[in-house]
Amino acid sequence: MSLAFFRNQFMPLENATVSIATHALNYGTGCFEGIRGYYNENADTLYVVKLKEHYQRFLRSCRIMRIDPGYTVDELCQITTTLLQKNAMTTDVYIRPLAFKADPVIKVTLEGIADAVGIFTVPLGDYLPTNGIHVAVSAWRRLEDNAIPSRAKVTGSYVNTALAVSDAHLAGFDDAIFLSESGHVAEGSAANLFMVRDGVVITPPGTENILEGITRQVVLSLTEEVEVPIQVRPIDRTELYVADELFLVGTGVQVAPITKIDHRTVGTGTIGPVTQKLQALYFDACRGLVPRYRDWLTPVSYSVSEPV
Ligand SMILES: Cc1ncc(COP(=O)(O)O)c(C=O)c1O
Repeated sequence: MSLAFFRNQFMPLENATVSIATHALNYGTGCFEGIRGYYNENADTLYVVKLKEHYQRFLRSCRIMRIDPGYTVDELCQITTTLLQKNAMTTDVYIRPLAFKADPVIKVTLEGIADAVGIFTVPLGDYLPTNGIHVAVSAWRRLEDNAIPSRAKVTGSYVNTALAVSDAHLAGFDDAIFLSESGHVAEGSAANLFMVRDGVVITPPGTENILEGITRQVVLSLTEEVEVPIQVRPIDRTELYVADELFLVGTGVQVAPITKIDHRTVGTGTIGPVTQKLQALYFDACRGLVPRYRDWLTPVSYSVSEPV
């Protein structure tokens, strides 16, 4: 039985339910996070990646949406590690914290409505293949920051994502790439985009209606470490068609090479050398195999018995 944390207590996931009158269910007024834990069988330990950074973003999203989750970053980290210990999953895990407008009111506003917080965990393998995907530039535009805040992870925003992904899948593609209204490349459906051109790693800035991804930041620091030059600048659509390498990064997709875009082969059509190097480093770091990146990880050990 999987446990969840909801309304300040641990309970079976199937009991963590809401009324159909809940504000967030009707109007999309919630904020969430997606956090990964990688299970290391030898150590019987789950390594949770960038836990603190995810909760820092969670609270930033809540601030934009006038949601008061009522917990600090440290408290949320503590609750999450306790939940993981209780669930003791021996697979890779996805952790979903959610804060939302919880009152059953018919009133489209953000103030004067009580908030609630829930956290649940599910097993999760690869969200997208990590050996090459075929993506399409979507006819749907990425939401603009002045319409629905793009740097906040707002539940309602994912209508935009679902429309684009659904069309991409029905047309036979693995994922969609969003342009913003300006015509510049924003990001993948739930991942940030990186391009390699002439030996330079390029990704759009935070002002291009992207979600400011935690993996994006991590991959930028890995790129710096392997001494590949970086440019954070707007990207045109047709640059994608002439790029040497393209890849998506995110908690869910991890580092997913794009080998085809809009029926055009990217580079040589195989995983490029820069992507390969960054992907290998990223996976090793997440599994706790690289001592210098251990500070990314919060270990949740199942073999040490702790009061739970
Ligand atoms: C819209 C969107 N962009 C980018 C990302 C990647 O962000 P992160 O690396 O923090 O998971 C995600 C995934 O959470 C996302 O939903």
